Amino acid sequence: MIRFEQTFADFLLHHQEKYNRTYHFLILMDAIISAAKRIQHYYLTGALQGNLGRAGQTNVQGEQVMQMDQIAQEITVHYLRATGRVIHAISEESKDIVPLNPDGRYFVYFDPLDGSSNIPHGLPVGFMFGIAKRNLEGPEDGHLRAGKDYIAAGMFVIPTGTFTLGLNSAGTWKFQIDETMTFVKPTRIVLPPDRGTWELSFNTAHRCGFAPKVQKWIATNECQYAFRYLGALAGDFHRMIHNGGMFMYPAIVNHPDPTQNRPEGKLRLMYEAAVVAFMCREAGGLAIDESGTPILDIQPQNQHQRTALYVGSPELVEDIKGVLAS
Ligand code: AHG
Ligand code: MN
Ligand code: MN
Repeated sequence: MIRFEQTFADFLLHHQEKYNRTYHFLILMDAIISAAKRIQHYYLTGALQGNLGRAGQTNVQGEQVMQMDQIAQEITVHYLRATGRVIHAISEESKDIVPLNPDGRYFVYFDPLDGSSNIPHGLPVGFMFGIAKRNLEGPEDGHLRAGKDYIAAGMFVIPTGTFTLGLNSAGTWKFQIDETMTFVKPTRIVLPPDRGTWELSFNTAHRCGFAPKVQKWIATNECQYAFRYLGALAGDFHRMIHNGGMFMYPAIVNHPDPTQNRPEGKLRLMYEAAVVAFMCREAGGLAIDESGTPILDIQPQNQHQRTALYVGSPELVEDIKGVLAS
């Protein structure tokens, strides 16, 4: 017997109707879904088409750009522009803000392909995005929005075909891709309270560079939990939000080669950290930076700002928050 599941489009239509919202958000989400599917196609066929290598240049962060980064960027900007609903976009792959339509309604902050080190192997990567809305009450100055002002944030894990979306005050939901490339089967995600499944996720090769109190916390706690690290935030966060626990990318302050220190952390606030922090909040969790400040409260000073990140089950994040404050 064939199983028919509710589609994402149907889910979102009902959501918008229930909360008396406009169709503009439907148009924007349809564009984001189209972009994700097309990125997924290029990624799946990338090994044969020769698209999984380096592009031969560095981006604004001084990091190697991969061909897939460029392909995903071009696809995403195309679909966002075509909606006519986006004022401007901010992307990891664009040094400057990408102006789209001054009369639009939304701001979109995205990382078109996150987890570059997995690209040459065709292993999971992410497409992550946060969405904020223009000021409808008065003039719009286009300022960079903090995560608490996002109306939605989500991620696609590519090429496994899962889509996760956090909706403001309406939960975090997961969708699977079916045989017709349609996202279906809305499933609400709530962080599990039972510690039995909890996992820790961080790059253990960096641990000597973490602040001594963070190293001590890890040494005291790590044996209680499973440890998992894929090296692509979308995939690592996907596991963690289902199983509970904590993903962290702490500040690097003690690197044997001080030039390699990253006191400000590695992950980008607007299109990486705030995106997962938003989904985590809607699933009942918490996210903070190295000073214990909630990630969602940080007002970005520039679009490519970095931050340390501790995200996950509230008990663990509160615990490390106490340690960071000590
Ligand atoms: P990028 O945006 O350059 O692809 O970075 C990937 C991010 C994130 O996905 C991942 O969690 C982290 O960087 C991995 O960094 P390490 O290699 O330092 O562990
Ligand atoms: Mn990234
Ligand atoms: Mn990227």
